[in-house]
Amino acid sequence: MLSHAVTWQWPTRQLLQITDCHVLAEPDAVYRDVKPYRHLERLLAQMRPTALPLMLTGDLSEDHSVASYQHLRELLADWPAPVYLLPGNHDDLALMQQVLVGAPFVFAGEIDAGSWRFLLLDTRSDTPAGAFDAPRQQLLTQQLARAHQAQQQVWLFCHHHPKPVGGIIDQFMQLDSEAFCALLDAAPQVKGLSHGHCHHGYVRQQAHWQLVGCPASSIQYLPRDEWLSVDVGPQACWYQFADSGAVTLRFITALAATPA
Ligand SMILES: [Fe+2]
Repeated sequence: MLSHAVTWQWPTRQLLQITDCHVLAEPDAVYRDVKPYRHLERLLAQMRPTALPLMLTGDLSEDHSVASYQHLRELLADWPAPVYLLPGNHDDLALMQQVLVGAPFVFAGEIDAGSWRFLLLDTRSDTPAGAFDAPRQQLLTQQLARAHQAQQQVWLFCHHHPKPVGGIIDQFMQLDSEAFCALLDAAPQVKGLSHGHCHHGYVRQQAHWQLVGCPASSIQYLPRDEWLSVDVGPQACWYQFADSGAVTLRFITALAATPA
């Protein structure tokens, strides 16, 4: 469980969410018709001139190999802003923490960002599906209460989607999400939740909060009843969190690779 609290260390409250990188032990290995390492490399190269804090929301590795996390470390070792991480169903959290150690990498459950508090949730279970059991619900209840006390607005990040997105990936969504969503519905300070896992981008209003699916940096799934994917290039989601509570977000697609 991620519970450690840190303070936001960046002059602006902007960040880039990158998810479902699915990096393999071999940099040129293929996952569903793309080379995930090369996609991530291209995305980061294009984002580097305006480098922002990164929020990596899981399935960073496809094969949870040491080498895949080492590749991630090499790609991000000199990233000029903090890199926050949380695990997905393909990840080995202990291995992540062992390999992705020291700056710029930050493992935390909460980020105190002035008028905002960001919560990073571990929604893994023993299967590829997500879960959020009673101990995690208790911790979240305490975190929301603290944010309320401090008059902070809250945005949550996790890997699994808590509501169906209308595709075959729904069999692996957070399967016990009723109590989880009830907590968010009862907390007016919650402005939104962003997840990965579904591999395609969408924004939906859910009670008083926004539900955001971040598109993958690897391959995009089509929301169908079979595993259909399409390569539209590496994608991510850019956010800006204003003191007023307004959140601006935009899906980003890296430009096509220049032919050699
Ligand atoms: Fe996933």
